[in-house]
Amino acid sequence: LVASLEQVDETYIMVKPDGVQRGLVGEIISRFEKKGFKLTGLKLFQCPQDLAEEHYKDLKGKSFFPKLIDYIISGPVVCMAWEGVGVVAAARKLIGSTNPLQAEPGTIRGDLAVQTGRNVVHGSDSPENGKREIALWFKEGELCQWTPTQEPWLR
Ligand code: TYD
Repeated sequence: LVASLEQVDETYIMVKPDGVQRGLVGEIISRFEKKGFKLTGLKLFQCPQDLAEEHYKDLKGKSFFPKLIDYIISGPVVCMAWEGVGVVAAARKLIGSTNPLQAEPGTIRGDLAVQTGRNVVHGSDSPENGKREIALWFKEGELCQWTPTQEPWLR
């Protein structure tokens, strides 16, 4: 009842190639699960260059843009859609600052990364971008809207 009074948002979270290759996928998924958000999409995916460029289009003029694109397409990423009240801002808090050396201990980047250009995870920066990015990275049939059942699974 309480949650139904508040806006349910969705965010696009992505484990970047370094996170996949360092074996951090489970650890990263686990942090969002434990926080209490709902997973609505999940896949391992080799991103083509045009999609990486579209995803980061707002950064196109930046000096680091070419290196950023090369990094994102250097190996498979894990694409995720997560849903929940306040999920966009909460996910940004769980992820921590862009520069992992400035990210607080306890955050994903603060605990698991060192370099800005290898900061293991992406999270949408607004509810609008959450919707935009989920539509960009997932096809309709890849997403799952679901409600937990009342089944006592461990009985
Ligand atoms: P940005 O959207 O500013 O950060 P965030 O991922 O925290 O939302 O930048 C996107 C990515 O670009 C960032 O995760 C890492 C890379 N990047 C650099 O390589 N150098 C930089 O100076 C910045 C600001 C970002």
